[in-house]
Amino acid sequence: MNANLRHESVLLEEAVAALNLEPESIVIDATFGRGGHSTKVLEQLGENGRLIAIDKDPAAIEFANQNFGNDKRFTIEHCTFAEIAQVANKYDVNGKVSAILMDLGVSSPQLDEAERGFSFSKDGPLDMRMDSSRGTSAAQWIAKAKESEIKSVLRDFGEEKQAGRIARKIVSVREEQPITRTLQLAKIIEEVIPKRHDMKKHPATRSFQAIRIFINNELGDLAAGLEDAFSILKVGGRLVIISFHSLEDRIVKRFFKRLSKGDDFPKDLPVRADELKPKLSLVGKPFKPTELEVDDNVRSRSAIMRVAEKL
Ligand SMILES: C[S@@+](CC[C@H](N)C(=O)[O-])C[C@H]1O[C@@H](n2cnc3c(N)ncnc32)[C@H](O)[C@@H]1O
Repeated sequence: MNANLRHESVLLEEAVAALNLEPESIVIDATFGRGGHSTKVLEQLGENGRLIAIDKDPAAIEFANQNFGNDKRFTIEHCTFAEIAQVANKYDVNGKVSAILMDLGVSSPQLDEAERGFSFSKDGPLDMRMDSSRGTSAAQWIAKAKESEIKSVLRDFGEEKQAGRIARKIVSVREEQPITRTLQLAKIIEEVIPKRHDMKKHPATRSFQAIRIFINNELGDLAAGLEDAFSILKVGGRLVIISFHSLEDRIVKRFFKRLSKGDDFPKDLPVRADELKPKLSLVGKPFKPTELEVDDNVRSRSAIMRVAEKL
């Protein structure tokens, strides 16, 4: 595990500006990664400010301890951000948090290091766990999952039109030999969807994304994390979420919409808008990276940032 590979932060200036920090703010960076956003946050905090970081990935924790460990304003917890409320309780900041950032998905070091097993273009063990210290690896899952389950994962989390054919192929190959390597799986998928020169993406892109989302319970963590992040914010606190695909963004958008609309009353009740008690207000329109940023960092291409403030 190499904790020193670089990660180019996406929407760095925009996200930190949206956190609306003051020198004494208590901030949670729920997806520390390699601390690009955390570094900028610390630059804006004074001596009495506080930054609590979270990451699932032991390599991110190791990097944080090596590079941020001497800053008394900083601490990091190795857990999922679905446990953000427990983290807030541990540090006695529940209801006092000024700003929370979630920069979702995987970091460049996770994608770039073959050993982590996220990449369909570098050979490595078929792992894909962000938290490599626990849980089920992609290889272990693929060895046991029913064909119907593989199909649903590929279809629901990858929007893969060939989900059924790929699932069938996986199940027939694994009867002959275990599927344990990333390039082995990529090749199996290529046998179902042959590579054509006019294809913008590798044929395994969607399937790898789907398996990664499933193995890391990314959408479940996000739904739980958003609810609890909102609950631990103080009034006036900001929630800043950067998503990288439509499934994530849909969850964020619906969550923000539900809380900014306020209480649910039966449609026929005559309720005035000010009686609906919205719980948060949307700040600005969804942000996307500039063309310049996308040219510089291709991984920012699909990013979308939404910002809300607790009322
Ligand atoms: C896109 S990177 C964040 C990069 C970071 N903002 C930076 O500038 O260096 C996403 C990070 O969030 C972590 N992560 C993703 N989902 C998580 C979750 N549910 N709980 C905790 N960490 C998570 C990943 O392990 C990864 O390190």
